Amino acid sequence: MRKPLIAANWKMYKNPTESTAFLTHFAPLIKHHDKAEIVLCPSMTSLPALVDAARGKSIFVGAQTMHWLNEGAYTGETSPTMLTAIGATHVLIGHSERRQYFNETDTTVNLKLKAALAHGLIPIVCVGEHLTEREAGLTANVLELQTSLALEGVDPAAAAPIVFAYEPVWAIGTGRTATPEIAADAHKIIRAQIAKSLTPELAASIRILYGGSVKPDNAQSLCCLEDIDGALVGGASLDPTSFAQIVTNAT
Ligand code: G3P
Repeated sequence: MRKPLIAANWKMYKNPTESTAFLTHFAPLIKHHDKAEIVLCPSMTSLPALVDAARGKSIFVGAQTMHWLNEGAYTGETSPTMLTAIGATHVLIGHSERRQYFNETDTTVNLKLKAALAHGLIPIVCVGEHLTEREAGLTANVLELQTSLALEGVDPAAAAPIVFAYEPVWAIGTGRTATPEIAADAHKIIRAQIAKSLTPELAASIRILYGGSVKPDNAQSLCCLEDIDGALVGGASLDPTSFAQIVTNAT
């Protein structure tokens, strides 16, 4: 049985004060909710304060990206050891916005995935097609390639913590959510590729989240499906009441 995971990707919103204020409002709303693993991914500057505020609340705090090396002349970057030193437990890798604006590639995704596993961070690896690729009938090719390249050289014995997130780029921030059928089909493709790249057993145990305009009113219809193990939420996770409703409706 895969425990559902609901993650908030706050992107470039919320300073440390706003982040801790969110938690003050959010935590009581999900206090008795233990059906899902809940992860908040703030900006780097808000990570330490949120980790401190989340202690004892069964709410995990993750980063939105990281470098794969532990130190070096890489201005502006953050290493895995810096993240673990401040108490981060999860890290998003390969988000489409990192791929689009910050030169994230399948190669760097693979390097970061391996580094996250090596440092005990839970990697949430984002894959997803553009609308033009979907319209050209290339969705399966894209998802299979991104998933296989992400997993290149990953030791199956170390792979259990990996989480994938299917984020169709055309659904991110657009209000155009993938239908449950589209999402379920994509998840099946990703899970089949995990079985080929790793093992069938890991494909059965690795969680695959859906991300792309998840809201309180569609969370249940998406996350009730067998192959969808939770959600990676952007805009709707910025409001504590809305995100609490998604957590409740999705699990
Ligand atoms: O990582 C999640 C994010 O890309 C989805 O954004 O605003 O469509 O929920 P949104």
